[in-house]
Amino acid sequence: MDVSVFGTGYVGLVQAAALADVGHRVLCIDIDEHKIEQLQKAVPPIQEPGLSAMIDDNLRDGRLSFSTQASDAVIHGQLIFITVGTPPDEDGSADLRHVLAVVREIAQHMQDDRTLVIKSTVPVGTAAKVTESAREELKQQGKGHLAIRVVSNPEFFKEGSAVNDCIRPDRIIVGTEDEKAREQLAELYAPFCRSRDKLIFMDNRSAELTKYAANAMLATRISLMNELANLAELVGADIESVRKGIGSDTRIGYHFIYPGCGFGGSCLPKDLRALLHTGSSNGFPMRLLKTVQEVNEDQRQVLFRKLQKHYTAGLVGKSIALWGLAFKPNTDDMREAPSRYLMEALWREGATVRAFDPDAMSECRRLYGYRDDLVLCATRDDTVQDADALVICTEWKAFRVVDFELLARKLRDRLIIDGRNLYSPQQVAAAGLDYVGIGLPYLA
Ligand code: UGA
Repeated sequence: MDVSVFGTGYVGLVQAAALADVGHRVLCIDIDEHKIEQLQKAVPPIQEPGLSAMIDDNLRDGRLSFSTQASDAVIHGQLIFITVGTPPDEDGSADLRHVLAVVREIAQHMQDDRTLVIKSTVPVGTAAKVTESAREELKQQGKGHLAIRVVSNPEFFKEGSAVNDCIRPDRIIVGTEDEKAREQLAELYAPFCRSRDKLIFMDNRSAELTKYAANAMLATRISLMNELANLAELVGADIESVRKGIGSDTRIGYHFIYPGCGFGGSCLPKDLRALLHTGSSNGFPMRLLKTVQEVNEDQRQVLFRKLQKHYTAGLVGKSIALWGLAFKPNTDDMREAPSRYLMEALWREGATVRAFDPDAMSECRRLYGYRDDLVLCATRDDTVQDADALVICTEWKAFRVVDFELLARKLRDRLIIDGRNLYSPQQVAAAGLDYVGIGLPYLA
């Protein structure tokens, strides 16, 4: 099929490459000329495993192309994806300015019926707004006879495995009340549903809410586990045993029940804020989700609080080694990363941070620049030279195997605070280190 994609951000690019890869002819549009020039040379602005090769292959075979000309894209695609950004407003609600601007532009160039597929994460009711705005524009242009169908088709990719999530989705949500649009989307996604039918059809509003509901559910699981972990510490239980104990119940399952130092990233916190805003603006403050958010805000301070508890005389002049800056492994993304809350609190208290991350070093430099109390180290082991304690914020594979005897010799205060429960407390303690995890019994 002929498909156009407006917005070559994270979602648009991954989706476009995946659609081209199964044989659709995809034209991507962006207003950022530099980005388009780079993409025409198969250089993506983001790092995702498999993405670069996929873009390269499909560019070469002519199934994928990039342009800044919106008019070409409106002519090209019978299906037009909208994947432009919806940055949060100050009150947490998603800002639809870019989405609505693209819709008007599409209506201005339309010479034939078109189906718009909204893939950006948008509040409930956006498809209705988009339909209204497109129809109004068409009428003004004297093209009121043209049909515009609007489909709500949220994405569920995870950073670091976006290509894989896109080509092997658990499900594809298609929200539309239009029969023709249903048929088009079924044809478009058929190559991704070969083993079983993963398409779930529903109305637009339900599809829009499904996206927020999924992230709200994931966030709730994490905050609940973090609360249970904090309680486990107080009552002398081991949250890792509890996690295995409850995860074995198939109704609960093992996914997303890892306690930690708070959920971060660009999606869970943002979508939670947006959903809370939707609730309150409909006269329905969502009490449970408000608490999920508050628990997470507290949990972001958990590593700092554990350090404070240890250093009762204060942290002035202390040198803290920090492993993991990204909000999760396999990305350089530091948006709302636990490491940031920790570093900023340590700096306020007069401590120095010696940090290492396999991918996010330049992102950290971009965010914080050069400062005396931040030393970015070339390797994991460099961080512990001249450090008092070690804190782990991200569960990168590269941190799993550790020589604890060496750490015990290097760390002046022989303290490890582990925000991801990576190690066996007995093994760390055997090396003569103090090991403080999340929800783990304290072994002195
Ligand atoms: C999340 C969802 O998982 C995706 O399904 C969704 O499509 C995406 O948001 C989005 O809305 O675009 P992502 O933000 O990439 O994906 O990251 P996750 O893997 O969900 O991790 C989010 C945070 O939760 C991380 O800080 C992670 O460390 C934390 N987490 C995750 C835990 O603390 N415990 C867990 O058990 C799982």
